[in-house]
Parts: sequence; structure tokens; C-alpha cells
Amino acid sequence: MSRAIVSLPGDGIGKTVLPEAIKVLDSAGFEADYIHGDIGWEFWCKEGNALPQGTIDLLEEHKIGLFGAITSKPKDAAAKELDPSLQDNGFVYFSPIVGLRQHFNLDKCIRPCRSFKGNPLNFIRRTADGGFEEPLVNAVIFRQNTEGLYSGVEWTNPPKLVRDALETHPKMKKFKDVPSEDLAISTRIVSREGCRRIITAAFEYAKKFGYSNVTVCEKPNVLRETSGMMFKEAKEIAKNYPEIQFWDTNIDAQMMWLTKNPEIYGVLVSENMFGDIISDGFAGLVGGLGFACSANIGEEVGVFEPTHGSAPKYAELNPSIVNPIAMILSACMMLDHIGETERAAMIRNAISKVIEEGKVKSYDMMKLRGGADAINKGAATTQQITDEVIKNL
Ligand code: NAI
Ligand code: MG
Repeated sequence: MSRAIVSLPGDGIGKTVLPEAIKVLDSAGFEADYIHGDIGWEFWCKEGNALPQGTIDLLEEHKIGLFGAITSKPKDAAAKELDPSLQDNGFVYFSPIVGLRQHFNLDKCIRPCRSFKGNPLNFIRRTADGGFEEPLVNAVIFRQNTEGLYSGVEWTNPPKLVRDALETHPKMKKFKDVPSEDLAISTRIVSREGCRRIITAAFEYAKKFGYSNVTVCEKPNVLRETSGMMFKEAKEIAKNYPEIQFWDTNIDAQMMWLTKNPEIYGVLVSENMFGDIISDGFAGLVGGLGFACSANIGEEVGVFEPTHGSAPKYAELNPSIVNPIAMILSACMMLDHIGETERAAMIRNAISKVIEEGKVKSYDMMKLRGGADAINKGAATTQQITDEVIKNL
């Protein structure tokens, strides 16, 4: 049976890596129609909306999206690049990927960080006798994807009503003399339901795939309310999974632990921003952005994307040098999600072989500076990596 996948290349290298992933899916015998959806900077500039309604409608209809990357820029730059006919009409830039997560309530973000044997970018550590060892990392981060510090409820120069409400909190005293226009406020909003859903998903995943521990990574000693709620809910939910060890760490300490003993961690679960941080931290141990894949999953819709951005400085290189593996692994997560697990495993095996053989390496795997001359120094092009993966299917 053929199915429809909404293809959202977006900006920059998103437009490069997404077609590569589709080539691999085709070669693995996965039959689908890819329906293009507009998203990204170009649509902000042209239409004042980086996430056009037509794209939302497509996802509503087909439920599955493969997403490349988008460019976003700070507030002032965004305002400046908007089409002159739209300027001063109240258009406000909002990240379209955050928009998708919120619109479809894609509240679970899953970011597996697994070392491939033979990857020259794998984390290594000194042993006591002066040698080194290369522990294999196999951590899966569950990030709450719609709430927390990225909820988007924030102000510079907060309205009086907001300011007055905040002044009722004793800790606001120290800001009492700051003029509102000199005050920027972000809120970290966490709902019990949001906590429960992400924590339960993390434990269920650990159970299904045989992970021996789940770590809730927060900061309840300081963020007593929001992190406190995450921690409390996690502790309760953990009781339903007596076979899985329940650990808790603070986000700052976790960043230290993951460079000391990353191999002990199985599944980790966090609020939105902390999940963003630890998943980048773990990704750095398994090859970095060229290898970091992710899934955004809601009740109905799933959107699968590499965690890297649009890497504008490499977007125009021809031939391209960026690593398509993060995007291809994201496509594998999509296959898993729709039950095509064997095909996903086949593609991952092919990637493993390419990395272990080490004949074809992208510039990042060779630890080269990116740029056109990386190819002269022996780096493979994006297409050559894809071709090698396909050859190994
Ligand atoms: P980035 O992820 O685009 O690139 C950072 C650096 O990582 C690149 O310069 C490159 O050295 C390396 N890199 C990224 N992808 C790679 C790949 N596939 N293979 C090899 N090397 C790779 O992050 P940056 O430069 O901070 O942001 C660029 C733009 O992307 C910004 O406009 C930002 O807002 C946006 N962005 C979008 C994201 C998304 O679409 N989900 C996520 C992160 C950033
Ligand atoms: Mg990030």
C-alpha cells in the first residue's frame, strides 16, 4: 500500500538532505508519495508566515511529515527582511517548527543518541593507566515538546496587568524599581498532564526496548514549582515500572556526568529546554549534528527531523558536503513510527556498515573545516554518502 508523506524541506541544507533521505527510502523499497509543503524563512519574508496554512492542512490530512530544517533570525532581523508591503502590519515571526509542535500538540520529542562503531567522532575517555577507551553510548532523550520555557509566553515591556500580577510574588521585590520597558520576562509553564504524558512515554519506551534505567533530568532544588512537578510526577509513575531503575539528576550536573560516564544512561526525560540541552550534549558524544535525529510525536501527527538547522554557510556549496545521516536516521524513526521497523533496521544497518568501513566519510567525520576544499582533502560529498548507504542496503 502506498502512502502519502508530507515533505517539508524548509531552508538551507534542509533542501539538500531531505531529498537524500527520500532516495534512501526509495532504495529500501518504501513506497510513498511525497507531497511538498511550504515552510521556512522564504514564506516569512513573502507572506509574513513561516508556516503557511496550506502546510498545516497537508499535515492534517496525511499525518506524517519529513522535515529538513528552517532558518530563523532574531526579532529585528526578521522584521527587516519582511516584504515591504507587509511591514508595520503587526506580523510577528514565530518559529514554524515550534508552531507545528504546538498546533498539532506534538508533545513528545524523541532524540536517540547512539554511537556507531568506528565513527571517528565517537566520545573517548582516558583510562587510569593513561590509555583510552571508547564507551558506546545508547541514550534516548524524551523532551517535553510544547510547554516549559519554550511555551512562548514572554514579554519585553510586559503589560500592566502582567506586571501587577507578578508583583504579587514576593520574589518580584528585587525588580520593583526596574521600568517595565527594561524588563524582559519568559515563563516556564508546565502542566501535570504534560509531565505525565512525556514521563509515561519515556518509561514505556524503556520497557519496550529493554533499557534498564530512566532518568528525570530537571532542577527541582531551584525551579521548585515546575521542575518540582516533573520530578514528583516521575517518582509516582516510576512505581508502575519496578523493573526499571529510576534516577534523577540536575540538568547542570547531568551535563557533567554525560562527559564522564555517558554509557550508563538509558532513557532520559526532561522539560522542553532542558531536553533540548541534554540531547545536544549527548549528540556531541555520538558524532554531533551530522548524526542527531529526532521525532516530534502527537496523538495524530508525527514530524521527523534532524536536530541540526539550515547551516546557511554550507547551503550554497555545490557539490554539497553536509552529512545526510541525521536526516536519514530521522526518516528511519518515521519508518519505525508507521510500523516499518524492518526497513528502518535495514537502513540503520547500511549506515553502520558505511561508518564501520570508513571508506566514505563526510567532512565532519574527518574533522575538517567545512568548505568547498574539504572535498580536495578527501571528504565525501553529501550524495556520495547517500550512494554508499544505498549500496549497503
Ligand atoms: P546549524 O545546525 O544550522 O549549524 C551549525 C553547524 O553545525 C554548521 O555550521 C555545521 O558546521 C554543522 N552542521 C549542521 N548540520 C550539519 C550536517 N548535516 N552535516 C555536517 N555538519 C553540520 O545551527 P546554526 O548555525 O546555529 O543555525 C543556522 C540556522 O538554522 C539558524 O537560522 C537557526 O535558527 C536555524 N536552526 C533551525 C533548526 C531547525 O530547523 N530545527 C534547529 C537549529 C537551528
Ligand atoms: Mg537544539
